[in-house]
Amino acid sequence: MAADKTMMPPRPNLFDFHGVSMVHYFTDNWEKIQNFQARPDDILIATYPKAGTTWASYILDLLYFSQTQPDRQTSTPIHDRVPFLEITLVPNHPSGADLADNLVTSPRLIKTHLPVQMVPKSFWEQKCRVVYVARNVKDNAVSYFHFDRMNLCQPEPGDWNSFLQRFMDGKMVFGSWYDHVTGWWERKQSHPKIHYMFFEDMVEDTGREIDKLCSFLGLTSTTKEKDQIRHQSQFDNMKKDDMANYSTVEVMDFKISPFMRKGKVGDWKNHFTVAQNEQFDEDYKKKMKNTTLQFRTVV
Ligand code: PPS
Repeated sequence: MAADKTMMPPRPNLFDFHGVSMVHYFTDNWEKIQNFQARPDDILIATYPKAGTTWASYILDLLYFSQTQPDRQTSTPIHDRVPFLEITLVPNHPSGADLADNLVTSPRLIKTHLPVQMVPKSFWEQKCRVVYVARNVKDNAVSYFHFDRMNLCQPEPGDWNSFLQRFMDGKMVFGSWYDHVTGWWERKQSHPKIHYMFFEDMVEDTGREIDKLCSFLGLTSTTKEKDQIRHQSQFDNMKKDDMANYSTVEVMDFKISPFMRKGKVGDWKNHFTVAQNEQFDEDYKKKMKNTTLQFRTVV
């Protein structure tokens, strides 16, 4: 569905929120988000925006519910089946925390883009399992650029060059990619219930990553079920599925760019100039020098 731009409020501005760049859309209900009561069997899917949130959510939803509730997948969009905890002010729509509160499934699958230090404390107190998905910085930045172009609730991206500079400066909604991926990586070292996955591994071998997810979650899905899920969650199949491709969300203008855009590793090569790439790599080395976290920018 195309967005009617004349009906839309102006693009939001970023502001500093406890040291993280944010827009009001994600913070206006902050007390409610911070006081969210997690349950021990809740599963939190955590990501920096555009790292593979929808893909991981779709796979988990199928793993848990495709056998018992096959209708759910054809009748409810993925963003309602697996709500973003921090979405606050959608007109005529409950907030993410309300949606999550009202989920009747067990487990509840809940998504978040929050940096690790902002996750409501009940998730840690209840020792919930967390699936974190990270994506290499260059493809993540490219995907985010196109998302900001088409999502009218996001700040204006500007041109690619100025966007890339802002990305390097961490002036993005949900803050710095560098802080996000390393913050969650450090937490994983002390919190055994975080399963840290990579978008590139999912592209390379989705079946293997589904197997790893099943071991982490203690699921005993059959080979046939897992194969079916691997097939259903392929890019082309999700792109065709109106319950997964965000075509029902009015603030997204698919004429500018689709939500399911390319789903590839290496699209950054079509965007970075040689000079941008050199400058970016130099800066990356400095920002990531204290972490053991490694990414692949090609598979
Ligand atoms: S969001 O808005 O933060 O929830 O976006 P998110 O879902 O994290 O990321 C969107 C990108 O993931 C790609 N995607 C996939 N790639 C491969 N296979 C599958 N099944 C798949 N599903 C989603 C989607 O196309 C976006 O990446 P780009 O590079 O823009 O195509």
